[in-house]
Amino acid sequence: MRNQHKRFRYKDLGSIEAACRELGLQLEFDDDVSNLGHRVNIAGKYAPNAIAIQPMEGQDGTFEGKPGPLTFRRYERFARGGAGLIWFEATAVAPTARANPRQLMLNKDTLSSFRRLVAQTQTAARESCGPHHRPFTVLQLTHSGRYAKPEGVPRPIIAFHDPILDGETHVYPDQVPITDAELGNLEDQCADAAELALEAGFDAVDVKHCHRYLTSELLAGYTREGKYGGSFENRVRFLINTISKIKNRLGDELIVTTRINAYDDHPYPYGWGTVKQAGSREMGLDEMVKLAGMLFENGVPLLNITAGNPYHNPHVNRPYDLPVTGGQLPAEHPLVSVARLMETARIVQESVPEMAVIGSGYSWLRQFLGNAGAANIRNGWVTMVGVGRGAFAYPDFAKELLETGTMNSRKTCITCSRCTQLMREGKEAGCAIFDTEIYKTRSST
Ligand SMILES: Cc1cc2nc3c(=O)[nH]c(=O)nc-3n(C[C@H](O)[C@H](O)[C@H](O)COP(=O)(O)O)c2cc1C
Repeated sequence: MRNQHKRFRYKDLGSIEAACRELGLQLEFDDDVSNLGHRVNIAGKYAPNAIAIQPMEGQDGTFEGKPGPLTFRRYERFARGGAGLIWFEATAVAPTARANPRQLMLNKDTLSSFRRLVAQTQTAARESCGPHHRPFTVLQLTHSGRYAKPEGVPRPIIAFHDPILDGETHVYPDQVPITDAELGNLEDQCADAAELALEAGFDAVDVKHCHRYLTSELLAGYTREGKYGGSFENRVRFLINTISKIKNRLGDELIVTTRINAYDDHPYPYGWGTVKQAGSREMGLDEMVKLAGMLFENGVPLLNITAGNPYHNPHVNRPYDLPVTGGQLPAEHPLVSVARLMETARIVQESVPEMAVIGSGYSWLRQFLGNAGAANIRNGWVTMVGVGRGAFAYPDFAKELLETGTMNSRKTCITCSRCTQLMREGKEAGCAIFDTEIYKTRSST
């Protein structure tokens, strides 16, 4: 049963709760979702409610890295939808760090467009939700690492050779991993981008450490030599150094956070978050928990917990009903994948109850995502509920949930993977099912 993929087919809370019981999963759902409306204190700044929009690239910036018309449109829709926190998408810190030729990039030349993006987002939020509604904003800083495609063709940059991923990512056997000196420069580039993010008006920057892009890979650099590889202290060095470089320059003016994989579901010694036995993929979050404590001590008040690799094991990252073209349906039931994502957030949140922890992977639950989120918050398993694909499909879900206590089952994301398919095809990404005005004609599937 746990190893049997099933599509979503639940009409009411009772039926999804019964499925969880049958699968032996610790997933709970509350009828009363009012705690989603509680404001969240993030180091003295406030998110007006406990619903977060997860970072999602639209691949719709300009070639120079400025937000394009569809980028502005996307954030305006999110802002009007009433979520308390908007986590802006992966934004490259250098040209070679880009995952595609239209990925956003923050530098002196693009700064004014980012400033406009933040201002317009906040204006839309106020217009829609009232003069006192001000979503907390985070900008995600990225280096795409082995998934870099700055000109649309692979230009991988690796932290170490990975016998499983090298073949999938056009890495040559004799390719030299990024050097320690280059990583030191990258820390400075992140700090430069953080300064610009503050000027643009963001409340926080995310030194992204997820989904097996470059810095996420560093966490699993057991086989890497030098000062960024091997021991725990070395593998987390980039993150700790970058945070302190940003704080040295900006003090407490800008909050620093990270969206981080708690678990790669990738075998030791090539995966982070696994039990340390050769070939083991079993979850072991002792290092993640240790890191969460260190981050809190280093002045990080907010964490966004995620897992998996969107290319290699996408169901671990975003449970779905249908895969991308040519992709596989996983063996496991999507509720098992959802429960795993929630468990990772729970383990981290329980280890650092003072931190605001955002959980990921809620969209597969459709109209019941708010019920699961409310139960998780009530249990102290998470502070905020993060929604990704669900917000592409139904950008005003937060407002409806907070105002009526329910979501409309006819408007929810159906986890068909078309948004990801658009990305894979090099097109602008959005919801081909519900945002048809823009995305239907772009979709080839
Ligand atoms: C089209 C698309 C683009 C994404 N872009 C990003 C990104 O820029 N940064 C990031 O951390 N995650 C990104 N994600 C992952 C989502 O933030 C989220 O973790 C994932 O979709 C699972 O959450 P969900 O079930 O609510 O969709 C992206 C996902 C999709 C489908």
